[in-house]
Amino acid sequence: MKSIIQNIENKYNELFSGKPLIVRSPGRVNLIGEHTDYNEGFVLPAAIDKAIIMAITPREDDQCRIYAADLDDHFECTLSSFERSEKGWPNYVMGVFDQILKRGLKINGFDCVFGGNIPIGAGLSSSAALEGSVSFALNQLYNLGLSKIDLVNIGQKTEHEFVGVKCGIMDQFINIYAEQKTVLKLDCRSLDYEYFPFGLENIKIVLCDTQTRRELATSEYNIRRQQCESGVDILRQHNQDIQSLRDVSLDFLETYKAELDEIVYRRCEYVIKENERVLAGCQDLKKGDIASFGKKMFASHFGLRDDYEVSSPELDVLVDIAAEIPGVLGARMMGAGFGGCTINLIEEEYLNDFTVLIRDMYKEKVNKDLKYYVCSIEAGTSEVVGKFVEV
Ligand code: GLA
Repeated sequence: MKSIIQNIENKYNELFSGKPLIVRSPGRVNLIGEHTDYNEGFVLPAAIDKAIIMAITPREDDQCRIYAADLDDHFECTLSSFERSEKGWPNYVMGVFDQILKRGLKINGFDCVFGGNIPIGAGLSSSAALEGSVSFALNQLYNLGLSKIDLVNIGQKTEHEFVGVKCGIMDQFINIYAEQKTVLKLDCRSLDYEYFPFGLENIKIVLCDTQTRRELATSEYNIRRQQCESGVDILRQHNQDIQSLRDVSLDFLETYKAELDEIVYRRCEYVIKENERVLAGCQDLKKGDIASFGKKMFASHFGLRDDYEVSSPELDVLVDIAAEIPGVLGARMMGAGFGGCTINLIEEEYLNDFTVLIRDMYKEKVNKDLKYYVCSIEAGTSEVVGKFVEV
């Protein structure tokens, strides 16, 4: 297979001049803890072996010339004149330098080419990967002195202020902080984090891509966030210390159930239970009890389907099929929802059977072709040193 890095470097050399900085910025999975990050809860993500590769050089002036290799699409602007683009993808680049400029930091423009193998819109956070590659690269090229957490915040603010998604912090955090063969438990309130080894030889992480994309995701995502906030507003009237659903127990929620709109109640209940699942799931990992962990993944899916209502018929079919296949320890929809991928934990000896069965059954039930990706867990955004490394 031709290396993606080599392709990006070649394209760079064709379009621009100078020796570029090469950055690798990964996509992510989340084992459990969905829609909990913006509720100040817990998540358990990891970065994967699917990534964006960016080749970039600084310029003397304030021109920014960007080429998206996979889309064969160019975009140009200057640092003094740029605005939201209908094309979509340039916003993740402009949003990042907008944040850097807002911090009063001095940069010039740049020439860059990027591309990779993160499926777009599949819930694997290709957007956080693009943000991470740009912020990491500009930090290096212009010696900005930004810390890891600065890069995370720049990515999240890009989404909030330039893209228009009120996302949590999970995707940007794991993109920068990830380490190989570990999942990261993040407390999205304190930002305390802990790595758990997850290099299990006999367990594979398999992503099953519904091949449906998430048109509803942005609007419904922001609505879910508002619903959780409106629940918190009502509950706070009974306890001033409540800042987020993180501070609410199931008992407390139950006590004031009658005051909450039925939908808001179900949203809150899901988030509180999901946080409990993450914490209990981390204990399972410590004990090496993957079977128990897997059951929590199924429970998470049912909550996302029935109470949080962010699943889709295709995602539900995939989880139902997986539940019947031998060797499947856990399966659930992953990311914002409404399409994209499920994440499955599979015992390695059953891997081949699993991939054949799930593809056939998905075709039979939904009449769509399924793509699947067997993932390894890799490090966060970093400079690529040396040539022709596979990603
Ligand atoms: C998207 C957001 C994250 C998180 C997930 C759902 O990926 O970017 O912040 O909220 O959805 O868990």
